[in-house]
Amino acid sequence: MKEYKIAILGATGLVGQEFLKILEERNFPISDIILTASSNSEGKKILFKGENLTVKEAKKEIFKGVDIIFSSAGASVSKNLLPDITNKETIAIDNTSAFRMYGDVPLVVPEVNSEDLKKHNGIISNPNCSTIQLVVALKPLNDFIPIKRVIVSTYQAVSGAGNKAIQEMYKQIKDKLENKPLNYEKTILPQVIAFNVIPHGGNFLENDYTEEEMKIVNETKKIMNLPNLKITATSVRVPVINGHSESVNIEFEKEFSPEKAKELLSNFKGIKLIDNPKNKEYPMPIFISGKNDVFVGRIRKDTSCDNALNMFIVADNIRKGAALNAIQIAEKMIEMNLL
Ligand SMILES: NC(=O)c1ccc[n+]([C@@H]2O[C@H](COP(=O)([O-])OP(=O)(O)OC[C@H]3O[C@@H](n4cnc5c(N)ncnc54)[C@H](OP(=O)(O)O)[C@@H]3O)[C@@H](O)[C@H]2O)c1
Repeated sequence: MKEYKIAILGATGLVGQEFLKILEERNFPISDIILTASSNSEGKKILFKGENLTVKEAKKEIFKGVDIIFSSAGASVSKNLLPDITNKETIAIDNTSAFRMYGDVPLVVPEVNSEDLKKHNGIISNPNCSTIQLVVALKPLNDFIPIKRVIVSTYQAVSGAGNKAIQEMYKQIKDKLENKPLNYEKTILPQVIAFNVIPHGGNFLENDYTEEEMKIVNETKKIMNLPNLKITATSVRVPVINGHSESVNIEFEKEFSPEKAKELLSNFKGIKLIDNPKNKEYPMPIFISGKNDVFVGRIRKDTSCDNALNMFIVADNIRKGAALNAIQIAEKMIEMNLL
């Protein structure tokens, strides 16, 4: 089997660390691996497959001869580096928002639109974490009865904002329990997160939605190839360490029974149904953190609309929402002889 020269851009970050864990777990065929981050991390040691690897500063020259770059160092770093170093031989699977809506960049969730990978020009974008888990659940339902409208509200974990945001939450919780005043200034998140929820992810746009909300809207349309899909989102950060949750209302062209939806979802690769409310069984972030699947439950008829269903969707935002999906893209490309 062919082996690949890999580079991780952002290897010291939450997503970067998860890349390494999953590459090792899945025994991804690697001939060589280069770890890169900012100049602050130059010389740091990271253990991979029993070997202590040295982190290098991410500079263009380092990526020469690399087959696959898994990139998660922020959108501005991707914009600066990737266009100059990628081509048909050196491809990047980019976890940032830098290129997601570019017409010539495939935005891929392998369970949904792997055919789009054939159109790549060196960069493939990994969607936003909240979008990935949503489209995995929408796909088998839309294949059976077309979707008319989606209303999604997210409950997003703090890990989605990176390592520093988690440390910030721990400190705020500790301060609160010690009756110290909370420091609201210079925080990574826009407001205090301990004992709070924040309806503000990314910047506010001219239409009064946040960037996070419009990513869900625009990326879902692109991945599902449904440019006219009616979809609206409210994105909320909650004081959960890891695992994004979504409350989703889906209106279909025709009536859709909850029983049929459960059957389709439980038979779809990558989805696990947990839906036994009488036994207190439904998906929750605390139990799905560290798992690969998208978990769906609380499937029920919308009592206000004949053709609509409500459901609750939970996934590990660092795994399926980021690193795992990117590695699955690479695996799919190998399977499709694109790498
Ligand atoms: N967390 C999620 O759920 C999630 C999901 C999907 C996508 N993403 C995206 O993935 C990216 C990283 O997220 P994260 O959660 O891993 O963040 P993080 O924990 O803050 O890590 C950021 C990484 O980027 C590196 N970096 C920062 N500036 C750099 C520069 N100028 N040159 C090279 N490397 C640089 C950092 O290196 P140092 O340690 O040296 O600073 C670190 O390795 C973001 O764009 C984020 O939107 C995150």
